[in-house]
Amino acid sequence: MPGSCTSHRPAGPARDNFRTRRSRSTPDDCPYNDAGVQHLERFERDAGPIDWDPGELARCALDAEVATVLHVAVVLEEDTAISSRQARAFGLDHDADLASFLATWEQEEAEHARALAHLLAHQPHVPPALRPALAPARRRGVARVPLSAARRLPATGVAFCALGAAAEYVALVVYTELAKRSGSPTAEALLRSIIRQEGRHLAFFKAAAGERAASMSDLQGRLARHIVRTVWAPIGIPSLGEDHWRAALGPLVDEPAVRARVERMDRVLDSIPHLGGMELMAGFLSRSRPTAPST
Ligand SMILES: [Fe+2]
Ligand SMILES: [Fe+2]
Repeated sequence: MPGSCTSHRPAGPARDNFRTRRSRSTPDDCPYNDAGVQHLERFERDAGPIDWDPGELARCALDAEVATVLHVAVVLEEDTAISSRQARAFGLDHDADLASFLATWEQEEAEHARALAHLLAHQPHVPPALRPALAPARRRGVARVPLSAARRLPATGVAFCALGAAAEYVALVVYTELAKRSGSPTAEALLRSIIRQEGRHLAFFKAAAGERAASMSDLQGRLARHIVRTVWAPIGIPSLGEDHWRAALGPLVDEPAVRARVERMDRVLDSIPHLGGMELMAGFLSRSRPTAPST
């Protein structure tokens, strides 16, 4: 049970590492100091660097449509730093598992951005115009949850982790599609190693949300549900705006097979107590059906 002082303690060296880190970084009154050890342990046990050689990546010839989507991916990878700052502003790094996770998560996503930016820097394709509209949208995103009201509530941690799981799931689907059609074995290998890390991020977020939500009151559950429903938008839209998002990602997401996989994001949220049945992605996709080609 999340919050329990005994049920998730690992044995052996990983437990000692966890305790050392906790004593340095988190206060003793934190309700989640002893929770989350198993999913943190799994996250750390499966860690490993992504595999990229700057010289080899510089010689790749990337498919043009894949390059367009990867330009968006770099922006989103870099935006992880914004999400981490938000989590810390909400006091979520007082939870030992999130404190450890956030530091590694930020580093890994920043490395994804560096590798992909290096790959793209050596491509002939013109990047899509994304940056100018970003800053206001980012600020709006940050302002959507009142900080003082939500700080360190159980519902806030559940909502942050659930939104993280939803975003990582969609990233995983998109990278998997790009890997299949990258046109370059070297780029595919890079994307597959990024996919492995995104899978770890998804597993951590999902377990962290699930464990917290399982012990939450109905009132906090309703609040978490309200936050997720209010704040959620498909990964990329808060940063890019819907027009840029559609221009860059629409052609990929409009493919029926990809659309069906993306829609399964709702099953990730369904697996978290209190958050089932919202059908957020299904609702979004049904509101933005691809335009039928004119005859
Ligand atoms: Fe990433
Ligand atoms: Fe990730």
